[in-house]
Amino acid sequence: MPSSAMAFTLSLVMAFLFTLASGATGQGGYVELPVRELSLGSRHPLSRRQNEIPLPNMMDGLQYVVTLSIGSNKQPVPVLFDTGSDLLWVNPDCSHALNGTQKLCYSNPRYNALSSNSSKILDEALNITYGSGATLGVFFEDDVELGNAVVKSQQFGVATYSETASVGILGGQPGIYANRTHKTFVESLVEQKQVRSGAYSVDLRSRDETGAVIFGGIDTKKYKCKLEKVESAGFNIVLTGMGQTFPNASAKAYSFSMESGIGVFVDSGTNFNMLPADVVFGIAADYPGATSTSDGSWRVPCEAPDGKIDFVFGNKTIGISYSDMVVADDGECFLGFVPRPDDLPLYVPYIFGSSFLRGVYAVFDWENDQIWLDESDDCGSNLLPIEKGKDGVPKVAGCKCNAKASSTIVYPAPTTIRSVN
Ligand SMILES: *[C@@H]1O[C@H](CO)[C@@H](O)[C@H](O)[C@H]1NC(C)=O
Ligand SMILES: *[C@@H]1O[C@H](CO)[C@@H](O)[C@H](O)[C@H]1NC(C)=O
Ligand SMILES: *[C@@H]1O[C@H](CO)[C@@H](O)[C@H](O)[C@H]1NC(C)=O
Ligand SMILES: *[C@@H]1O[C@H](CO)[C@@H](O)[C@H](O)[C@H]1NC(C)=O
Ligand SMILES: *[C@@H]1O[C@H](CO)[C@@H](O)[C@H](O)[C@H]1NC(C)=O
Ligand SMILES: *[C@@H]1O[C@H](CO)[C@@H](O)[C@H](O)[C@H]1NC(C)=O
Repeated sequence: MPSSAMAFTLSLVMAFLFTLASGATGQGGYVELPVRELSLGSRHPLSRRQNEIPLPNMMDGLQYVVTLSIGSNKQPVPVLFDTGSDLLWVNPDCSHALNGTQKLCYSNPRYNALSSNSSKILDEALNITYGSGATLGVFFEDDVELGNAVVKSQQFGVATYSETASVGILGGQPGIYANRTHKTFVESLVEQKQVRSGAYSVDLRSRDETGAVIFGGIDTKKYKCKLEKVESAGFNIVLTGMGQTFPNASAKAYSFSMESGIGVFVDSGTNFNMLPADVVFGIAADYPGATSTSDGSWRVPCEAPDGKIDFVFGNKTIGISYSDMVVADDGECFLGFVPRPDDLPLYVPYIFGSSFLRGVYAVFDWENDQIWLDESDDCGSNLLPIEKGKDGVPKVAGCKCNAKASSTIVYPAPTTIRSVN
């Protein structure tokens, strides 16, 4: 879908000190990187009430950070893992980081090309624009390590100026920047045989739990039963319906005005899910204890009752617990949805943010344009590589395949599923 150099991510990059050391191994054909979701701890000043900033309330709260080791001297550098963009760049301009994040930004370790004897400066400028602002800089080449896996001579940007960011970004999308003159990090992992397939799985977890990005592999003990391929259109997943399962176990479906479904872009750099207004209003009106705020979000009890939001992808329904859909922000809690404003430019898609990703196990296989999903779970760890080619995701039962399926509501699938931009 995207063909320009404009990255669609809406990431507001925030800083944390607590990035985890990598526990990776390239030997089994996959590379696992621990990811941690951490909070800034206080409301940042891009408040919900400043409506001159587009989508402000998608940008609060928690972000997912991984740590890379860059250069011959293995410099630890934290970066935001972002499914919504394609470039790797480091060294944010802390003087233009968001208010309240500058201090953290300055305290994060930075890449120093001069201290690495494998670094090389390239004769190419970096200029990329995100939903949250621009990043300018220069391209370098150096070795990037994740545990036992090493990518030699990876090209990445070193920022000289960036807006709002307080850590760099590791983009997981296939290359779209500058007409693909760069290998993305994932492409390098494949080319240098650190993984067998350019697919990766994303297992984001709740606050203070460690999740993982597994390049070239899956963890069969982190999903409920069965990973299933869902319809996709470009970089978007086709969502065909939504529902809500209430605490009293009764369920309700909400229909889209577009019956064939909508394309939704998965962006780990965003917290909220931005979906059609009619469906979001319907869900919020029925959600126990939700009260609307003046800026178009809903305040909800921080202590979520038992209940689920159900996402329908053709004949696969994923139920995500209310507790995963609640976004906490400085002691207040909000429902993890915002209606897509009518006045957004057309290129801004519907979005699944981290509040969706917390509830699912997702495999992105951009080599084959396949996306696989199941509800997330946790019953240990068993890593398997994803093989090259179509349908390379291992078909292995997850945690609770034998459990009664009575809690799974199946909504009638539409008669046609077609791609929607
Ligand atoms: C490059 O740096 C590494 C680690 O700092 C060191 O072990 C190695 O000997 C250096 N190589 C050269 C050619 O200077
Ligand atoms: C940051 O805070 C200062 C002082 O409170 C204010 O003048 C400035 O506009 C703020 N910047 C942003 C980007 O909100
Ligand atoms: C970066 O790219 C944008 C859009 O192509 C352009 O308007 C801007 O002038 C560029 N900035 C620099 C410093 O090259
Ligand atoms: C991308 O690069 C190729 C080869 O340099 C060129 O033929 C093509 O027109 C470029 N595409 C765009 C969209 O710039
Ligand atoms: C269950 O709860 C929902 C939402 O509060 C309500 O609309 C519905 O009537 C209830 N159903 C039953 C059978 O109590
Ligand atoms: C629905 O599920 C069945 C079996 O679970 C599968 O064979 C079929 O291909 C699926 N249909 C669609 C449209 O995904």
